[in-house]
Order: sequence, then C-alpha cells, then structure tokens
Amino acid sequence: TVMQNDILKTKVMGHRGAALLAPENTLASIRAAAEAGATWVEIDVYLIAEGGLVIFHDDTLDRCTNGSGVTRDVRPMDIAELDAGSWFSDKFVGEKVPTLLDALECIQSLNLGLNLEIKHDGADVENIVPAVMAILRDHWQDNDKLMISSFNLAALALCYEIDDQRYLAPLYEDIPDDWQAQLVAIEAYSLNCDYSRLTEAQARAVKAAGYKLLCYTANDPKKVAAHWEWGMDAVITDDPTQFASWLDN
Ligand code: G3P
Ligand code: MG
Repeated sequence: TVMQNDILKTKVMGHRGAALLAPENTLASIRAAAEAGATWVEIDVYLIAEGGLVIFHDDTLDRCTNGSGVTRDVRPMDIAELDAGSWFSDKFVGEKVPTLLDALECIQSLNLGLNLEIKHDGADVENIVPAVMAILRDHWQDNDKLMISSFNLAALALCYEIDDQRYLAPLYEDIPDDWQAQLVAIEAYSLNCDYSRLTEAQARAVKAAGYKLLCYTANDPKKVAAHWEWGMDAVITDDPTQFASWLDN
C-alpha cells in the first residue's frame, strides 16, 4: 500500500500552474508557480482528437485560446497553432497549449512534484487513462513526486488496475457519504475537495482514516485558516505567493 508513505512534502500546490500569475495550464504558468516558491503543481490533462493528450481545463477552446470549438475534437496539429497566452495578457502572447509530454519535461526540469488531474467528458475513460498511464510510465521518473487525481472515480479505478503503485486522489465537490469505501477500493493516497464545502467533521474523519487531505481552490489564506486546524495537509491555489508563510523553502 502507498498510504503509509509521506510523499507530499508541501503545504502549497499551484493550481493549473499558477493561474492568477500566468495563463493557466501553460508552461509559463508552471514556471510562475516555481518562481513563486511552489514545489508542486496541479494541471489538467485532456484527451483530444487522434489520441492527443494536452494540458487544458475546459470542454471548449474559447476561453483560454484564440481558437474556438469543442476541445475533444481538435487535432494535435491544430491546437499546436493556437495562442494560449494572449487572452491572459500581452506579456504571454505566443504561449502554447502544452502537450502532456511538454508539461512532464518542464515539471521535471524544474524538479517539481505533479498532481495530474485527469479530465473526462463521460465516455472516454478507456481511451484517456491507458494513454496517460503509458506516457507517465515512459516519461515520468520519480513516482514519489506524482499524484493522479480525478473527479471521475472510474478513471482512477482504471489507473489502479494498470498500476497499483501510483498515488491516487479522488476529487469531490461535495464529499459523498461512502467516500471511505471509494478511497479503500483504489487504495487512495489523498482526498482532494472543495474547501468551501468541506465541514470540520468530514475533514477530521478523512484524517482519522489516514488519508492526506487537499483543498482546492483557495486564493485567500483567511478562507482556509480553520482548515489547517482541521487537518488539511495542503492547499491548491492559483496564487502561491499568497501562501508564502506556508512555503517551507
Ligand atoms: O484539482 C483541483 C482542481 O483543479 C479541481 O477543479 O475544475 O479547477 O480542475 P478544476
Ligand atoms: Mg484541475
């Protein structure tokens, strides 16, 4: 079991890189998180046409690129042409949507830990999970610097089937009553949830059961002040600079 290990050596994880400091889910955003002192980043991996894997959050291209249309239908050669930085500011004109491979190389070169969130649109777990797991097997060196998370429990169950040594983290908006059975079934490492919906009783139960507890997405330290006392291990934030006093480096 992976549960006994203490791989999460940080209290502050950059969200989509550092989404308030640079255009989310780009290499610039990953670098911004590192510059802000974060030692772990969360990014979203998305399956597109022709089996391509890119770092992207939305089901459509419109908000975060100069393109438009449905993300899962765009071809790798076409998304590679898009600008993923100019929507954020002029400073980031020309920034690209990274492939998963681009991001893995960037993150490892910065010596960061990675929380890779598997995105899904309902039907494609059998397509995205084996592809992601194969790329991680071949291109990610240190298993102790990798957490795989998803709102889709079936995606994590398939990760577990493929490699039961990965550190897995179910994501919840509202934590369901049977959360513990869900975590046990995949030997999860962590429970990752919305800080604003988490109750003290839930937090203490998660910690009593021996799991890590991560909360997204808090950008104001005051909003999660109580959560540290309830046992929250790390905050996932768009702006790691706000949590400078929780950074230990
Ligand atoms: O992993 C935490 C957080 O990223 C989950 O929500 O929508 O920002 O990917 P979302
Ligand atoms: Mg995410």
